[in-house]
Amino acid sequence: SQTVGRATDGAVTVAGIEVTRLAEEFGTPAYFLDETDFRARCAAWRDAFGPGADVFYAGKAFLSRAVVRWLHEEGLNLDVCSGGELATALSAGMPAERIAFHGNNKSEDEIERAVSVGVGRIVLDSFQEIVRVAHIAQRLGKRQRVQIRVTVGVEAHTHEFIATAHEDQKFGIALADGLAAEAVRRALELDGIELIGIHSHIGSQIFDMAGFEVAARRVVGLLAEVRDEHGIELPEIDLGGGLGIAYTSDDDPSEPHEIAKALNEIVSRECEAAELRVPRISVEPGRAIVGPTAFTLYTVGTVKPLEGLRTYVSVDGGMSDNIRTALYDAEYTVALASRRSDAEPMLARVVGKHCESGDIVVKDAFLPADIAPGDLIAVPATGAYCRSMASNYNHVLRPPVVAVRDGEARVIVRRETEEDLLRLDVG
Ligand code: LLP
Repeated sequence: SQTVGRATDGAVTVAGIEVTRLAEEFGTPAYFLDETDFRARCAAWRDAFGPGADVFYAGKAFLSRAVVRWLHEEGLNLDVCSGGELATALSAGMPAERIAFHGNNKSEDEIERAVSVGVGRIVLDSFQEIVRVAHIAQRLGKRQRVQIRVTVGVEAHTHEFIATAHEDQKFGIALADGLAAEAVRRALELDGIELIGIHSHIGSQIFDMAGFEVAARRVVGLLAEVRDEHGIELPEIDLGGGLGIAYTSDDDPSEPHEIAKALNEIVSRECEAAELRVPRISVEPGRAIVGPTAFTLYTVGTVKPLEGLRTYVSVDGGMSDNIRTALYDAEYTVALASRRSDAEPMLARVVGKHCESGDIVVKDAFLPADIAPGDLIAVPATGAYCRSMASNYNHVLRPPVVAVRDGEARVIVRRETEEDLLRLDVG
């Protein structure tokens, strides 16, 4: 979906610019992010849910000040999950009331900052945190709007979902055994917080809508319980993020309007059955917005054929700019980007420059047999959880993010320098 083409000399173009020119100007490795595509995806989510709902972009997928400004301009809200993300959001002018603050172990400092600046909501993740946020808000003379994150007993995995009776993970408060109902009871007793709704996030890179539907049904079930016990109809529910994107041609993601339709229908139906007012819905897509909008451009350094196995193609980055292959066995594709080649495809593995054999960028790839040092190769769909999870392993410098739009390219996160690295070293 990026504005990708081929120039007459065979080089891949993005937003009308040849990647050979991009590499010359910005170096490699580098992430190139299509701003037009990013904005279009924001608009698609916003319009799919309409004015009666809220879309919070999950900043953990990728956050920078430019991104915050685009979100603001496109009418999206922002979900942050650390003081650092909050600081980035505020410094780029995101109004605090459009920020939601998440996390299973927010520090007192983080909570204090969030409450002081007036974030729109804090999502409470534990019994301790209910009390902690209430006390901090009270001390600051504020009443903080909060949601309670519940775990609905649906565990979502890549490409599938498994309904589980007991959840064995760290997030949220279980609906099972009346724990979530007890959390609501506690929250309603405390002056420092105003409980506005219930939150559920079932996982990430999900393709099957059934998991979201079960979650929506169970969250509405809790709203009905709360109404029966306390006589209050909580006005909001958040159904989290998690929508999958296509990393390879095997993946078949849903469109925002399909998700909006499915979620609205199920929530309306369940509310009608329970005789509840339909709450305001919010969602928190991260990957689905930014993932497809960027690719990583690498320069090939060495090509090593292993007889009878495959050819190892080493690039100038690796697990420091994309940890997902090593961490999740994630699948990516790769293409020769600097020229056209008619050579036979050969089985290759794209690896990085780091000092371990698990440093794989693309596990199984077909590249033209004449691939050679100096060629540029592009790995698509690296917009989400690549720069945001990048590291300085081996003291490698983290790559820049360059935004392309209408034939122009500009750096939105600059490349790290050795000076940046050494600045933290006080010995
Ligand atoms: N909301 C909450 C509460 C979340 O925990 C997450 C992701 C999202 C929204 C956004 O999910 P998305 O729409 O991006 O799937 N590092 C992993 C993904 C971890 C996701 C963590 N939470 C990866 O690279 O696949």
